[in-house]
Amino acid sequence: MRHRRQALGRGILGRPAPIRLWRYKYDGRWLPIAQDIAKRYELKAGDKILDVGCGKAFLLYEFTRAVPGVEIAGLDISAYGIAHAKEEAQPFLKEGHCTKLPYADHSFDFVFSINTFHNLKVDQLKAAIQEIERVAKDRKWICVESYRNEREKANLLYWQLTCMSFHMPDEWAWLYRQWGYTGDYGFIYFE
Ligand SMILES: C[S@@+](CC[C@H](N)C(=O)[O-])C[C@H]1O[C@@H](n2cnc3c(N)ncnc32)[C@H](O)[C@@H]1O
Repeated sequence: MRHRRQALGRGILGRPAPIRLWRYKYDGRWLPIAQDIAKRYELKAGDKILDVGCGKAFLLYEFTRAVPGVEIAGLDISAYGIAHAKEEAQPFLKEGHCTKLPYADHSFDFVFSINTFHNLKVDQLKAAIQEIERVAKDRKWICVESYRNEREKANLLYWQLTCMSFHMPDEWAWLYRQWGYTGDYGFIYFE
């Protein structure tokens, strides 16, 4: 029995080992992504960038390395996320709901949101998309999870914990058009 417990990783004297929870830490992996986005949207020093649903702001922070001189801002509903965000980005983050962005009209050169809007019910989704349209000048990009077939739908359903908006790409496109969104959009699939 003792051998079996050790084989199971129970640690010394057969006591259960402490559970190690995975924590999402900064490791610089977002820098090439920020560089790609900066190139695609021709971001330059002095541009103001907003990340809606910024989480720990790891990507947002990387814009300051990719394009020195940009101004960053991030909003997230999670006080925990903001409290544990990249320290250099923290002064530029706000806790809030993406349906009511605390920023002036047309105040950002580039606004983006990645993997956040799946959390919203349809009325909130409309408000959030229209808020991005309001605070952005011209360049904007929304990325959400989607599915193209039953397999990807099942995978998305298994992945999601908080997903309220499940739509296929053409349905997302229709919603964007209905609500007057003029920016770019993309999707992540669980193949
Ligand atoms: C899957 S994470 C993505 C975080 C980050 N954009 C990224 O790609 O790593 C979803 C984020 O959306 C935030 N969020 C969920 N509902 C929100 C809301 N109503 N308003 C603002 N942020 C929200 C969560 O707190 C979380 O940080």
